[in-house]
Amino acid sequence: MTLESAPMQSLYGGAQHRRITIRDLALAKSRGEKWPMLTAYEQLTAEIYDEAGIPVLLVGDSAGNNFLGLENTIPVTVDEMIPLVRAVVRSSHRAMVVADLPFGSYEESPELALATSLRFFKESGAHAVKLEGAQLEQVRKLVHSGIPVMGHLGLTPQSLHQLSGYRVQGREDGEVILKAALALEEAGAFAIVLELIPSELASKITGELSIPTIGIGAGNTCDAQVLVSTDLLGLTKNSPKFSKAYRNFRAEMIAAADEWAKEVASGTFPGPEQTFH
Ligand code: KIV
Repeated sequence: MTLESAPMQSLYGGAQHRRITIRDLALAKSRGEKWPMLTAYEQLTAEIYDEAGIPVLLVGDSAGNNFLGLENTIPVTVDEMIPLVRAVVRSSHRAMVVADLPFGSYEESPELALATSLRFFKESGAHAVKLEGAQLEQVRKLVHSGIPVMGHLGLTPQSLHQLSGYRVQGREDGEVILKAALALEEAGAFAIVLELIPSELASKITGELSIPTIGIGAGNTCDAQVLVSTDLLGLTKNSPKFSKAYRNFRAEMIAAADEWAKEVASGTFPGPEQTFH
């Protein structure tokens, strides 16, 4: 018997039932296999995406404006995120679950980043953390402590005000983002999200890195793609240009609620099937 787990044949929808590891993601890059990552914030979507074979679930701080009723990701706290990550871990069996570190919970020092990440690991069972920007000392500390880190460059929504809004990044200073990506790889990150940058830049970064890039609004040459789940499902009212709704569940949910409300008003719900004697 070998101590190493057998390699995944395919990340998306593969037959194996063990959890995806960062090694599986590295091997996927070496065989040129592209893979999908989705956000999940609670039990049902986690269960469903895991069943669908999505290999990586991100409990993003986009929970702020997609689950917690906030305007953006800035006010999201660690205490709000931990129960969401715990629910996603408990409700999935195969996906790697990545916890997004909230704004203010890691920037001050590597020690703070470690303390926050340890809370996610111990209290929610997360398998990796994600942080925004070139926080190299933080990444080194976490990786040295046994915590896999996903980076995030380009449009980093926690710096929304510093960036003057949700704007394409790296049009003039692409070299800065490329250097930051190389530095994150060198610091030990296992993958990097590239958000809202020109596709040519994403392509160059993807070619120069040996770790996977995960694009969102960064063209189709990244090693992986991520979508915010509520955008994918068509639940979001105003979704960004780079997302794509594959269903219109907002309209479906309105129709379902309307149909039921009308049956309540007319006295046809509950019917005989829902009635006990
Ligand atoms: O919080 C989030 O959902 C994210 C993705 C957009 C990558 O960071």
